[in-house]
Amino acid sequence: MNTAEIDIEYREMRVVSVSGVDLTKALSDSHITLLNDSFLSHHILCLRGQTLTPHQLVSAGRVFGEPQVQLLGDYRLDDPPEVSVISNYNKLGGEKPHVRATHWHTDDSYFARPAKATMLFAMAIPSSGGSTQFIDTEAVLNAMPDEMRRGIEGRRAVHKYHSRRGKAVVAVRTPEEEALTPDVSHPLIRTHPETGRKALYINPNRIDHVEGLSIAESDALLDELYDFAFDVRFQYRHHWQLGDLIIWDNCCTMHRASTDFNVFERREFQRLLLKGEVPI
Ligand code: SIN
Repeated sequence: MNTAEIDIEYREMRVVSVSGVDLTKALSDSHITLLNDSFLSHHILCLRGQTLTPHQLVSAGRVFGEPQVQLLGDYRLDDPPEVSVISNYNKLGGEKPHVRATHWHTDDSYFARPAKATMLFAMAIPSSGGSTQFIDTEAVLNAMPDEMRRGIEGRRAVHKYHSRRGKAVVAVRTPEEEALTPDVSHPLIRTHPETGRKALYINPNRIDHVEGLSIAESDALLDELYDFAFDVRFQYRHHWQLGDLIIWDNCCTMHRASTDFNVFERREFQRLLLKGEVPI
């Protein structure tokens, strides 16, 4: 295995694309270390050319952490339940295509312990477009003007499953799923549990307000932060190939699905979440 095939579209964004790894086979300890180091230092790791069954996807997840089931039962496979399906033809949408996750977000921030990472495995991709976009929020924090950074240092934001400010259509939860997702508060700057590096931790879909500020002050601060963070210089756009398996770090990235494709063409991924830590 080599890491020569490195695909960096924006200078500030760190992503590494690796070929020559077959995740259906047992990996040596040194390859596991290399993959984990690449993931932690680049934030987004793409493993090309994979042919994985859902059970093999769960095993691939164990290379990086501990797989967990996602909140919404309707999107999970029956076997294994840790794998869910993201599709513009999901079983809830019936015949009508619908692209979900089109606004910037980080996964699972409505939990006290959000998923550390998400893995997406490309099962069907449209003939053109349908990329996934990412923002490196460690790069955002590092580039932030001192005054803006001082304004968020030590502050926490309340994340709600159904946030006042969220623009996305929110999935309907069962009463059991609602009980699992009370409002939670997370720091706006979090320290990575494995690397110790700091990143901006925002989820525009779920943050409702910043604690300790009036709603008007909080909205103004969040608008200013989002404006800064969404700048194209922090972005990377992944153009999918069939067999791509991407793993991204939810502690220091945001992502969204693009709608720049013919939505009548199938775009489908298998998705796996890995258990994370309480953000600090
Ligand atoms: C997601 O938000 O997990 C899915 C992103 C995508 O469909 O590109």
